[in-house]
Amino acid sequence: MKILVLNASPKGKHSGTMKLTESFLEGIKKIEDCEIDVIDIYSLDIKPCEGCFGCWHKTPGACVIQDDMSKCLELLKEADLILWSFPLYHYSIPAKGKMFLERTLPLVLPDLVKTPSGCTHPSRYDKEQKVVLLSSCGFYNIENNYEGLLMQFSLLYKEYTKVLCAEGPLLNIPEVSYFAEQYLDNVRKAGEEYARTGQINEETKELLDKPMMPIDMYLENAK
Ligand SMILES: Cc1cc2nc3c(=O)[nH]c(=O)nc-3n(C[C@H](O)[C@H](O)[C@H](O)COP(=O)(O)O)c2cc1C
Repeated sequence: MKILVLNASPKGKHSGTMKLTESFLEGIKKIEDCEIDVIDIYSLDIKPCEGCFGCWHKTPGACVIQDDMSKCLELLKEADLILWSFPLYHYSIPAKGKMFLERTLPLVLPDLVKTPSGCTHPSRYDKEQKVVLLSSCGFYNIENNYEGLLMQFSLLYKEYTKVLCAEGPLLNIPEVSYFAEQYLDNVRKAGEEYARTGQINEETKELLDKPMMPIDMYLENAK
């Protein structure tokens, strides 16, 4: 299985969210042989979409802008599983991640097709792809924080699996690694379950939805 990680944290390999993603991958690797590519979006030369629709009409399937996005599009076309990995920024995806997303327009056709809820552009390619969203945030709550992003993801992808981690900064604080380690063990378990069944068990989901550290303790230490 070809897995493509899209790391949209400005912290690159120091991203706490990437710890979730690495643990999820460790779980998958226990079950499946896989080839993994990581796109570190913030380290690449990716310019904003110019809105010219050249990728639909002038050079179908290819963007007219010459930058690192052309090799990213090749990796996106080949992937069986896409893992989006990023922190929540202002209730949404960090800016360059959104920029990357907009540059994927060459992967869809200009045609409009009806869906149960409205219409969309069909994919230019036949490949079945699965998507997992792994994200961390600074608040202790997932509810009243992630709704905007989750709505966007359910419009973008017919189906996707999610791991949303509250109190994300704890993933990068060695002094309280006890809390993060317990959480990361559950993310590993989630990856293994996902590789076995295509979903995360309800019991594991419940554990992942809980804050890593008791809320009062987190608030006391948050600055
Ligand atoms: C510009 C900015 C906006 C943020 N917006 C939110 C937010 O809307 N909700 C939230 O809970 N945390 C927010 N955070 C906190 C990050 O999501 C959190 O620190 C995350 O765990 C960082 O992950 P990373 O180490 O992978 O970059 C924000 C942080 C920054 C820098």
